[in-house]
Amino acid sequence: MIQIRQFGWADYDGVTEVWRSAGRDVLPRAELAAKLTRDPQLFLVAERDDIVAGVVLGTFDGRRGWILRLAVDPAHRRGGIASRLVAELETRFAALGCPRVNLLVMPDNVEALRFWQRLGYLPLPDVLCSKPIGTT
Ligand SMILES: CC(C)(COP(=O)(O)OP(=O)(O)OC[C@H]1O[C@@H](n2cnc3c(N)ncnc32)[C@H](O)[C@@H]1OP(=O)(O)O)[C@@H](O)C(=O)NCCC(=O)NCCS
Repeated sequence: MIQIRQFGWADYDGVTEVWRSAGRDVLPRAELAAKLTRDPQLFLVAERDDIVAGVVLGTFDGRRGWILRLAVDPAHRRGGIASRLVAELETRFAALGCPRVNLLVMPDNVEALRFWQRLGYLPLPDVLCSKPIGTT
């Protein structure tokens, strides 16, 4: 049975394993702790038989929601876990009054693009620009 619920620190090792198994960077504890001071209800795990099988991290800036770091353990894919994580996150965004949700996908991540389009997330032509602030 799969349970979708809010992350707790006891899940951290399981979450890092899922991120690693999916080839995603691991969010360090300090960065995660800072995020959790803002909207902890938007960091979700999927638990199957007491094991963390999937994870998604949402953020809300007061205007837009963002979905980050979605990953499902390869052994648990194509069973609807990511869809359920995103559905629960969307419910939580809606409860915050969030009208639109964005996310970034690497252009060569064809499988993820298929997944997102199946859920109604359509590509836009915008280019991501980024700059580190406060570093020397
Ligand atoms: C993308 C990912 C999160 C999908 O997780 P999942 O739990 O397997 O997804 P779901 O079972 O909910 O899939 C729902 C639908 O999305 C589509 N989909 C999912 N994975 C797909 C794939 N590899 N190829 C094509 N379509 C896919 C299918 O339409 C699927 O429905 P179906 O299984 O009935 O055909 C998972 O493959 C993953 O962790 N990938 C590596 C990390 C990553 O790329 N994350 C996203 C970064 S933006």
